[in-house]
Amino acid sequence: MSSAEQRPGRRERAGLDSFDSSLANLSELLVALLEAAGASSVLEVGAEHGHLTTELLAWAAAVDGRRIGAIDPEPQARLLEVAAAAGADLELIRAPSLDALGSCELAYAIVLDGDHNHHTLSGELRLISQRAPGASLPLLLLHDIGWPLARRDSYHAPEQVPAAHRQPLAHDALLAPGEPGLAERDRLLWAMLDSSAFALAERISRLRQRGEPLFSRERIRRALDDERA
Ligand SMILES: C[S@@+](CC[C@H](N)C(=O)[O-])C[C@H]1O[C@@H](n2cnc3c(N)ncnc32)[C@H](O)[C@@H]1O
Repeated sequence: MSSAEQRPGRRERAGLDSFDSSLANLSELLVALLEAAGASSVLEVGAEHGHLTTELLAWAAAVDGRRIGAIDPEPQARLLEVAAAAGADLELIRAPSLDALGSCELAYAIVLDGDHNHHTLSGELRLISQRAPGASLPLLLLHDIGWPLARRDSYHAPEQVPAAHRQPLAHDALLAPGEPGLAERDRLLWAMLDSSAFALAERISRLRQRGEPLFSRERIRRALDDERA
């Protein structure tokens, strides 16, 4: 077993389900989009556990000639199983996107859902546009461009991003809607009202670890009091 298979991902370390933030949750929408665009092949950059990959493989199986590729430097165990079962139906490239996109076969549609930071995404877009024939770009589908990351950078492997392009790192940071940086106060109420499942789930898991109640009236009142103060 490789070190990537043994090492739990960020969500597993936080006790979250691997499905919580997968684009597989939006597969009905994505598949409709691929159909409407007449796509014949999809390349998924950042495939993790292969939840979306599984959906894409099912989409591809419905019509002869459709192709699916996935790029991920640290594919998780489930994705490796998906790839083994798919055989030639899935091209899995185990490399960072900036290494792979310069030479791999591009696709009609490309899902960009790998390392969510300015350096990596702008490099991915540059490589794709350099290699795309003529004036036409592939159909580009970008995940995680809004809350909770928005204009923040995150790094799967900070050391692989040149220091000049890396923002200061924060660990175990809290985020709150409406705050472009890091949140210092408890914003559980806001997270409940106005958040993605990801932030809420991360917050809940944090409270569980501290043995604190998740949804007590007292807690919500305190959040309101803090907000008014
Ligand atoms: C948000 S997950 C992808 C989720 C998946 N697309 C889905 O919807 O189920 C991000 C994945 O990107 C991978 N990743 C990190 N850095 C990457 C890079 N430079 N190139 C490609 N993938 C990368 C991580 O290993 C992780 O598996």
